[in-house]
Amino acid sequence: MKPAAPRRLLLCAVCLALCCVGGARESWTRGNHEWKKLIMVHHWPVTVCKEVEKDCRDPPDYWTIHGLWPDKAEECNRSWHFNFQEIKDLLPEMKMYWPDVLHPQNRSHFWAHEWEKHGTCAAQVDALSSQKKYFGGGLDLYQELALNSMLQKLGIKPSINYYQVSDIKDALASVYGVIPKVQCLPPKSGEEVQTIGQIELCFTKELKPQNCTEPGEPVEPASQRPGAGAAGGPGLEVCEDGPVFYPPPDGTAH
Ligand SMILES: *[C@@H]1O[C@H](CO)[C@@H](O)[C@H](O)[C@H]1NC(C)=O
Ligand SMILES: *[C@@H]1O[C@H](CO)[C@@H](O)[C@H](O)[C@H]1NC(C)=O
Ligand SMILES: *[C@@H]1O[C@H](CO)[C@@H](O)[C@H](O)[C@H]1NC(C)=O
Repeated sequence: MKPAAPRRLLLCAVCLALCCVGGARESWTRGNHEWKKLIMVHHWPVTVCKEVEKDCRDPPDYWTIHGLWPDKAEECNRSWHFNFQEIKDLLPEMKMYWPDVLHPQNRSHFWAHEWEKHGTCAAQVDALSSQKKYFGGGLDLYQELALNSMLQKLGIKPSINYYQVSDIKDALASVYGVIPKVQCLPPKSGEEVQTIGQIELCFTKELKPQNCTEPGEPVEPASQRPGAGAAGGPGLEVCEDGPVFYPPPDGTAH
C-alpha cells in the first residue's frame, strides 16, 4: 500500500474544487446574461408600505406593477441609462399602474432602477427592446392579466378575515391556466399570520403564459430572489401554506 495514493486523490479533489469555484466566479464576473422566463410582478401597495414600516398616505387600493423581470439576469447593460423622455407618452399610465408606492414624488428613481436592473436584460427580446417597449410591454401585460378584476371576480378582496394561501393560488391558477407565485411578508412580532405582498405570473420569451414553478422544482431561497431585501427589511418570501392576511387599504374591512 502506498500511502501517497490517498493524498494524491485528495489533492486532485482540491484541484477540482478550485477549478469549479474559479470557473463559477469567472462566469459570474463576465456576467451570465442568459434568461428564460419573464416574471410579471404585481405588488399590493399596503404591504409594500408595511414592509418598510412607512406610513404611506393613501397608497393605491389596487395591485400595481413592481416590475417585469427576467429570471437569472440583472444589469445586462450598465451603459444603457434610463431616459425619461423615451417614456413620456406613457406617463399617465405609468403614474397610475406602475407608481413608486414609497416615493410618489420621485418616481423616476424607481423606473430608472427597474430599467437598469431588469429592463436592460428584458431588452434581449424584440418586443421589449427599448425603454418605451419595455415599460409599454409591462403595462400591456398588466392590462391583459387584469389581476384586480380577476381577484374581484374570484371573491378575493382585502379583508380582516384570513384566506388560505392554497385557495388564492388555486383560484389564480384556474383563471390564468398557469401556476403563479405568491409572496408574503412573514408575520412581524405580535402578528398571527403572514401578509400577502406580491403576485407573480410568468411568461416565456415569446410572452406566452408559463408556470412560475415547475413541479418538483426547488423554491429559490428568498435572499437570492431578484429584488429581495431591496427595502432593507426582512423582505418577502414565498408564502407558507396556511392562513394569509390581505390587508385592506384603510385598515378596515370593506
Ligand atoms: C448597451 O447600451 C448602449 C446604449 O444604448 C448601446 O450603445 C450598446 O450597444 C449596448 N451594449 C450591448 C452589449 O448591448
Ligand atoms: C430622486 O431620486 C434621485 C436618486 O435617488 C435623487 O438623486 C434625487 O435627489 C431625488 N429627487 C428628489 C426631488 O427627491
Ligand atoms: C403547468 O403545470 C401544470 C401542473 O403541474 C401542468 O399540468 C401544465 O402542463 C404546466 N403548464 C405549462 C404551460 O407548462
